[in-house]
Amino acid sequence: MITDQSGQPLLAASNLSRRFGGLMAVGGVNLELLPGHLLGVIGPNGAGKSTLVNLLTGHLKPTTGTITIGGQDCTGARPWRIAHAGVARTFQIVKPFRGMTVVDNVALACLFGPRRMRSLTRARRAALEALGRVHLADKAKLAPAELSVADARRLEMAKALALGPKVLLLDEVLAGLRPAEIDPALKLIDSLRQDGLAILMVEHVVHAIAAVSTEVLVLHHGEVLTRGPADEVLADERVVEAYLGTRFAVANGQRGAAANGQRGAVQQPATGDRGEQS
Ligand SMILES: Nc1ncnc2c1ncn2[C@@H]1O[C@H](COP(=O)(O)OP(=O)(O)O)[C@@H](O)[C@H]1O
Ligand SMILES: [Mg+2]
Repeated sequence: MITDQSGQPLLAASNLSRRFGGLMAVGGVNLELLPGHLLGVIGPNGAGKSTLVNLLTGHLKPTTGTITIGGQDCTGARPWRIAHAGVARTFQIVKPFRGMTVVDNVALACLFGPRRMRSLTRARRAALEALGRVHLADKAKLAPAELSVADARRLEMAKALALGPKVLLLDEVLAGLRPAEIDPALKLIDSLRQDGLAILMVEHVVHAIAAVSTEVLVLHHGEVLTRGPADEVLADERVVEAYLGTRFAVANGQRGAAANGQRGAVQQPATGDRGEQS
């Protein structure tokens, strides 16, 4: 179903909106995900990042707009259909099956996902491959509760990769990681992009997004504030203000840094929801 000839987006959204009562959580977003590209999505708490991911994966129905996967209209399709079309995701909160081993958690994705493997032996073999891809094969026999936060996030990635996707949507996969764990996680994500996956990565850790993105999109109050190369976007005065508020930006000389186009004008957001659903 998915085509990936050069230039053809694997996933595209046009004028995508979602209203919750009087709140426009996502309003008129256009985006395209291309093979071997990583679109970093940043924005303050409540900007609509998770809602955007939920719309793209069928976990929420759009109020307006269309979603196409490999050129096929998938607007309003259920999550399993989107997964079968080649789009996999991770969740901001990890929810493994606690009564099963790590490898069997991943094997489930092989048995019931698009690959529909019939044999448990084959599914476990494929699951071990996916665990190897995220450097977790040595912990295959553990219970999920025995994993560190970083390894639990790797398990989430392995479950997504076991679906054999062409598009990967990552919702705050770095949340809760210690600083020393962030670089290895970024290397893994970058290697998946180099393998040709199209990746959308929602992240609170702004410098991490800058390190791996081919393009950065900033959401603010559900709308696209700006998009472009990380250096330009993170030095944009409007982005600094959206994150930190005008008064903070001025008080800390961030306005000057932004106006001078200095890299890294935006550091960490003032408020964080690391590890929490928001
Ligand atoms: N299911 C829902 N019902 C009502 N409001 C929601 C729902 N999900 C999200 N929202 C609201 O939509 C806005 C965007 O939320 P979200 O997409 O989770 O933001 P982010 O992930 O950028 O922090 C927030 O104001 C949030 O409270
Ligand atoms: Mg969120």
